[in-house]
Amino acid sequence: MQFFLDSAMTEEIQYALDMWDIDGVTTNPRHVQVSGKPFMTAIREIGAIFAGTEKTVSVQTNPHKHDDYQAIVAEGRKLAALSPNFVIKMPCTEHGYKACKILSEDGIRVNLTLCFSAAQALQAMRVGAFYVSPFIGWKESNAEEVGTFIEEIVAIRGNYAFDTQVLVAAIRNGRQLVDAAVMGADITTAGFAVYQEAFAHPYTDVGLKKFQDFWDQTAYE
Ligand code: E4P
Repeated sequence: MQFFLDSAMTEEIQYALDMWDIDGVTTNPRHVQVSGKPFMTAIREIGAIFAGTEKTVSVQTNPHKHDDYQAIVAEGRKLAALSPNFVIKMPCTEHGYKACKILSEDGIRVNLTLCFSAAQALQAMRVGAFYVSPFIGWKESNAEEVGTFIEEIVAIRGNYAFDTQVLVAAIRNGRQLVDAAVMGADITTAGFAVYQEAFAHPYTDVGLKKFQDFWDQTAYE
């Protein structure tokens, strides 16, 4: 399973690439706002980090254009021309699906985002999405069950051999990361702190300290 970092902060993206070998990045308007940089500056800098690799950077179109597929398509083409690593994000709305179909037929990869039902994911697959992004953190915050949600999406993809990759998004902790893997997701995307915590364990630190103490009490030769 691939790990994507959900971020627009170049320093943490570079760190996650160097230390964790992350497989790609997802951005959204919140991440770009948090980076403090203008949108085009932020995405160009992230694109440059991945230049020459096969790894992808998901870049979101203007969310105000969600009901105008021609505007989404025009912006998607402009963004896709900036970097071969860019996958263009648009919402699971009627116009988002339509724009996805047009762009995908032109060879531009699309990430259909803000997916909250298996029916939305099925339509995303039908219109040729490269990624579909079911958000599990938001659903769990809303007291919705997410296990069946992801299982159904993965099963639908398998039933019809769609090429769309299931990118489980809005992951909040290591448990959700593991759940996504068990349910057969292709990719997870999560923030820096989620991976950092998930890759560590307090007992590893406790055990390491014990071993250091024994090591210090033992002659080497
Ligand atoms: C996914 O592509 C989104 O950027 C992301 O997971 C949204 O979730 P958030 O609530 O963590 O920002």
